[in-house]
Amino acid sequence: MKTYTKLLFLAACLACFTFLACDDDEMPSCDNCPDELITGPNVPTPYTLEFPSFLGQPNLPADNPMTEQGILLGRMLFFDPILSADSTMSCFSCHFPEQSFTDGLDKSVGILGIPTQRSAMSLVNMVFMEKDFFWDGRANSLEDQAFLPIEAHDELNDSWENVETKLRRHNDYPALFRAAFGIDRTSEITRDLAVKAIAQFERTLISGNSKYDKVIWFNDLSQEFTEQEQLGLELFEVETAITLEHPGCTHCHSGPNFTDNKFHNNGLDNVASLADFSDLGRGAINGVFFDNGTFRTPSLRNIALTAPYMHDGRFETLEQVLDNYAQGGHGVENEDPNIRPFDLTQEEKEALIAFLHTLTDTSFVNNPRFQNPF
Ligand code: HEC
Ligand code: HEC
Repeated sequence: MKTYTKLLFLAACLACFTFLACDDDEMPSCDNCPDELITGPNVPTPYTLEFPSFLGQPNLPADNPMTEQGILLGRMLFFDPILSADSTMSCFSCHFPEQSFTDGLDKSVGILGIPTQRSAMSLVNMVFMEKDFFWDGRANSLEDQAFLPIEAHDELNDSWENVETKLRRHNDYPALFRAAFGIDRTSEITRDLAVKAIAQFERTLISGNSKYDKVIWFNDLSQEFTEQEQLGLELFEVETAITLEHPGCTHCHSGPNFTDNKFHNNGLDNVASLADFSDLGRGAINGVFFDNGTFRTPSLRNIALTAPYMHDGRFETLEQVLDNYAQGGHGVENEDPNIRPFDLTQEEKEALIAFLHTLTDTSFVNNPRFQNPF
């Protein structure tokens, strides 16, 4: 580029930036903004994900290899309100680390004060899931998932175009994107890279150090279940000789992450017809009438920290959850056959809940790498 063209380029750049700075509320699209060179390190350091092997096979897409710099960038984006239209909310606003990344509300509320349809999900061990993110499984990957909250009107209510502009003109993000993805110019900062970084951060959110893990998987001799917790475990697990009276929670909350990752109607709503669910759940995504009112089995890791419960946060306590399961559903035709009435004494109920509390992993919620970096 000749010197005078360069100067013109710089002048245009300045003009554009001044304009943007003056008019923060209504930001114009930056199509005419100059594309700037970014300097600084551009060779990301590969990151080896460490986790206890009993948790399963991680799902690490080949087109988004994890790097130290990618994870750091993802963490910043996750906690940064720059992702919302009025800079008041971030992913963090509905996903607090100390509540296993939930928000304590029955239904989450976005920047406009409009409640979403559903309760925020716990973000835990998602790297062991292959697909079916959200209660209704409508996102196929963590990358796909992360596109959605930005533009959802009841969440961050921004546009990706606007977010890209804000990131490109930001003081720090260009260098962070370069460090994470080796890009050279601000125009290469895209929504695709932003969601890749967020997904990398989310894949590090691994919990496998609860009391349950220490007793069952690590054989840590300094830890043992109390008699109450042991009784709770026995009630939770499916017996070999199933009695109808047995809760058998592991029919669905199975495996190291306490989920079969399948969709079920677990007996919440008493509807006359499958068309009558107020939230059709899976059925609204795949169009299968029989799947109306089914939702993905959530993991129960850290369940004591994530009240209220179910896709709509209808139960405030684990006692209420158990009482509902004990009724054995309402005879709605697509209720899972494993939803059957059972009768627990008060002592057994408390034992089952005490067992669920052993799934709390304080080293996960307090992990310094998962906290707000700002
Ligand atoms: C307004 C509150 C709110 C904001 C902001 C928000 N979320 Fe969520 N999140 C939710 C709710 C509610 C659900 C469940 C929605 C559903 O199933 O329809 C959810 C679900 C998820 C899931 C699915 C987890 C699973 O196990 O399937 C992921 C991942 C997630 N959010 C990540 C993010 C990220 C990343 C951001 C920021 C880009 C974000 N969320 C912003 C409320 C929010
Ligand atoms: C037929 C499969 C199935 C069985 C059996 C089952 N669950 Fe569930 N569980 C689910 C599904 C599906 C959901 C989500 C339902 C929804 O939100 O609509 C769920 C949700 C939950 C939740 C709320 C989780 C959250 O993040 O809000 C808890 C707690 C829970 N189950 C505990 C149990 C316990 C304890 C048992 C045994 C008494 C049990 N479940 C038996 C499938 C099952």
